[in-house]
Amino acid sequence: DNVLLMRSSLLRWYDDHQRVLPWRARSRGNGEEEEEDHAYAVWVSEVMLQQTRVQTVIEYYNRWMARWPTLRQLAGATQEEVNEMWAGLGYYRRARFLLEGAKLIVQEGEFPRTASALRGVRGIGEYTAGAIASIAFNEAVPVVDGNVVRVISRLMAISANPREAATVKTFWRLAGQLVDPDRPGDFNQAIMELGATLCSKTNPACDVCPVSNQCRALLLSRSNQSIKVIDY
Ligand code: ADE
Repeated sequence: DNVLLMRSSLLRWYDDHQRVLPWRARSRGNGEEEEEDHAYAVWVSEVMLQQTRVQTVIEYYNRWMARWPTLRQLAGATQEEVNEMWAGLGYYRRARFLLEGAKLIVQEGEFPRTASALRGVRGIGEYTAGAIASIAFNEAVPVVDGNVVRVISRLMAISANPREAATVKTFWRLAGQLVDPDRPGDFNQAIMELGATLCSKTNPACDVCPVSNQCRALLLSRSNQSIKVIDY
């Protein structure tokens, strides 16, 4: 049905068109240790990406991972070292939470492997928990950021105000129904990637979009009905 088609279209597009980014380059091993290293890399990259553009994050991410390649090594760092590495990214709280979280997880002995367990780490919110759980541990949980809200609002022609808490909740529920159960991490990154590239705020590239034939907003605009589409 529609959901299955949307998943497969997005995943195929992502397989062919995803940007090459350093946190995606690592080979995905099956061992628990490799999974935890991957989870750490995803954590660092997603926290950096929360308020900073991809192009800027790439440099910071590479320097950070060269200095602290594993969670255990980060846990041995001082706040001063971490702040120094973070300098220029802003919102230093994020760096503090990363260090505190690393220390906590190393102390407890194992990386939390589900979104709900990850939420127990201070500084890991719903977004970061969903990203780590789905990308590193294959849990079928959604992630919702501004890009995901825009893509889903267009696909389903939802004109609710995304700044209202109730709307955001609705998008988490919808994203949870959409997420691919077999490849949740790739699916979540595909929908974020679509929002970051083709499905842009002001100038969406519908002509090359993999899901344009399932997009209600596009359909309505073509049939000349004026609808308000979220440009958030
Ligand atoms: N924006 C934030 N995290 C992302 C990811 N993992 N893939 C694509 N865009 C993103």
